[in-house]
Amino acid sequence: MKIPSEKKNHLEDIYQSFLKDERILKMREVSMHRGSNCLVHSFKVAKLAIKRALRHKKGDLEIILIAAILHDYYLYDWRIDRSKMKHHLGTHPYTAAKNAERDFGIHEAIKKVIHSHMWPVNFTDFPKTKEARIVSNADKTIYLKEIMCSKKYKAKREKKYLKQIEFLFD
Ligand SMILES: [Fe+2]
Ligand SMILES: [Fe+2]
Repeated sequence: MKIPSEKKNHLEDIYQSFLKDERILKMREVSMHRGSNCLVHSFKVAKLAIKRALRHKKGDLEIILIAAILHDYYLYDWRIDRSKMKHHLGTHPYTAAKNAERDFGIHEAIKKVIHSHMWPVNFTDFPKTKEARIVSNADKTIYLKEIMCSKKYKAKREKKYLKQIEFLFD
C-alpha cells in the first residue's frame, strides 16, 4: 500500500524519536537471542510489522509501530538477574506494557498488542486485533531469524544490525 508522504514522515518521526530516547537506548544493554539485543530486536520487529501492514493494507500503522517498538520494553536481563528467569516468558509482556505506560503513557490499544505478543505461550491472551496479530507474527519471524545466527561474530553483527535499524523506511 502506498501511503501519503506526510503519513510516512510522521511514522518515521515517531520511529526516530523512540530510537533516540535515552530510556529506549537502555534496551541495548538487554541481551537477546543469540547475541542480538533488545533494542535491535524491537526495532527490527517494528520495521517488519510496518512492512507487512502496508503490504496487506491492514491495521493502524501508529499502533503497530509503537507497540512493536515497546513490546519487549521490560528492561531487565534475565541472563544476569536469574530471579527473573523462571517466569520471564509468560510475564515479560505485562512488565513491558507497565513500563511503557509509565514512561510513555501509551493507550489501551497499544497495551493490548503488547500483552498478547507472546501468544500461544500466554494462551488466554490471544491477539484479537489485526495490529496484535501483525506484531506477534513479526516478533516470531525476527526471533526465528535471530536464533538461526551463530553467537560468533556478535560484535560485528551488532554494528550491521544497528545500521539496519537506522530508519523505518529504507
Ligand atoms: Fe517478547
Ligand atoms: Fe520480541
